[in-house]
Amino acid sequence: MTRVAIFVSGGGSNMVKLVESMTGDHPARPCVVLSNQADAGGLVRAREMGVPTIAVDHKPFGKDRPAFEDALNAALAPYAPDLICLAGFMRVLTAGFVNGWAGKMLNIHPSLLPKYTGLHTHARALEAGDTEAGCTVHEVTPVLDDGPILGQGRVPVEPGDTPDTLAARVLTMEHRLYPAVLRRFVEGEKSPLFLP
Ligand code: GRF
Repeated sequence: MTRVAIFVSGGGSNMVKLVESMTGDHPARPCVVLSNQADAGGLVRAREMGVPTIAVDHKPFGKDRPAFEDALNAALAPYAPDLICLAGFMRVLTAGFVNGWAGKMLNIHPSLLPKYTGLHTHARALEAGDTEAGCTVHEVTPVLDDGPILGQGRVPVEPGDTPDTLAARVLTMEHRLYPAVLRRFVEGEKSPLFLP
């Protein structure tokens, strides 16, 4: 059974969908949910679902990212994860940490990569007049939002959309895409999945 650690910084709706999917004949189980925000809603939801949680606050480490990441690895060790899923984790990880988990870390990003790496993806898609938007699950590499694509989900941009209304539509697609890609990845299937 593959042990999956899930990293969150916020409400954790993707984390909930991942945890809900890892039941029955699924070849993986969540072993811990970790956040850099001790008051993250995602930690509360994980505990309600019976998943162990950890909070590793990044602030005391200031600009010393490697020290923060050493604390992440130390906190994770007792749970012995085989795989990390970043699900709304808002700390950029250094090459040192990422290379330590090479091929064993996934991320979901709310755009159709390689378009709109980084932040404010929905506002940028609307500003550009795009007719469709979406989300991407990719393997994490040292270059931000750049690793091999494992899946993408497309949604239409509707007349009158705001960044918030578009984000809500994309989030619904994220909740379908991430669990589907996680299962394929754990089963060894790395060819990209395209939704709908
Ligand atoms: C999602 O839109 C994800 O793509 C982005 O951060 C958001 C997290 O949402 N990286 P949630 O915490 O999973 O609800």
